[in-house]
Amino acid sequence: MADPYVPLEAEVVERVQESPGIFTLRLRLTDPQAHAAYRFLPGQFNMLSLYGVGEVPISIVSDPEDEQMIDHTVRAIGRVTRGLARLQAGDRLGIRGPYGRGWPLAEAQGRDIAIITGGLGCAPTVAAINYVFRRRARYGRLTLIQGVKHSDDLLWRQRYQAWAQAPDTQVLIAADRAGPAWPWHVGGVTELFAQARIEAGRTLAMLCGPEGLMLAGARHLLGRGVAAEAIWLSMERSMHCALGHCGHCQLGPLFVCKDGPVFRYADIGQYLDVRGL
Ligand SMILES: Cc1cc2nc3c(=O)[nH]c(=O)nc-3n(C[C@H](O)[C@H](O)[C@H](O)COP(=O)(O)OP(=O)(O)OC[C@H]3O[C@@H](n4cnc5c(N)ncnc54)[C@H](O)[C@@H]3O)c2cc1C
Ligand code: FES
Repeated sequence: MADPYVPLEAEVVERVQESPGIFTLRLRLTDPQAHAAYRFLPGQFNMLSLYGVGEVPISIVSDPEDEQMIDHTVRAIGRVTRGLARLQAGDRLGIRGPYGRGWPLAEAQGRDIAIITGGLGCAPTVAAINYVFRRRARYGRLTLIQGVKHSDDLLWRQRYQAWAQAPDTQVLIAADRAGPAWPWHVGGVTELFAQARIEAGRTLAMLCGPEGLMLAGARHLLGRGVAAEAIWLSMERSMHCALGHCGHCQLGPLFVCKDGPVFRYADIGQYLDVRGL
């Protein structure tokens, strides 16, 4: 049996600089058979490794139906992510995955979907948004709420503009601070929650980003009558094995790598905002 810790080799097909500290690596597995067999669900992640540097969990942002490319959007913050930032087209890296439980897109069928994200937190939801738009008739109203610190931090501005024009879709975006010609709200993203057209009994919510934002979003939704079982959060914890063996990613009795990273608020709400967890 193949060693689950040994990564497959991938090649950078394209590197896109999204903003000064954020870039997207478009990858293809170098073994054509492995690439053809590779499948993932929106919300799952891969472990990306640089030989001699280390390995980090990164969400998959590409469209699950795009079998040409496996995309990851990364913020360069430390040793491994800064190493990944130096890769160029043609360079090689290691990839293990996909891992974890993705967004509940089957459960969301026939319902309205509200997606609340902050900063790069939007990355893990992009594959889910693409998935919904490809099967638009199966889902109800789509509400997208995204917050950034500065207007320059908003990734995929054109995609948000296109989504805002789509039928049955509401897009609410806020920047704490904004440059000129910013068409959306200036201020905290929580100030937009009340504008969201949410019908509590029909809505399934997906939240991703800083834990404080997810907590505020979940409490707002609960206050409007959305059930705790219908609110889903994508959690981040430092990871090592991604296989449920090492305990690095433990959150209460749960392992983020295998029980998540996407959880129901009903199952993890009690562990949010708890110091040391
Ligand atoms: C399931 C999952 C999905 C993720 N998806 C993405 C993604 O799509 N794009 C992306 O850019 N990142 C994502 N991350 C976060 C990413 O894994 C970390 O940024 C990365 O591990 C940092 O490694 P490093 O070696 O570059 O930094 P390190 O050298 O390990 O750390 C540098 C600094 O960043 C801090 N830090 C490390 N990890 C995090 C973190 N998760 N959040 C906040 N601060 C942190 C450290 O405390 C330290 O101060 C995800 C994490 C998880 C668990
Ligand atoms: S990363 Fe090892 S148990 Fe989750």
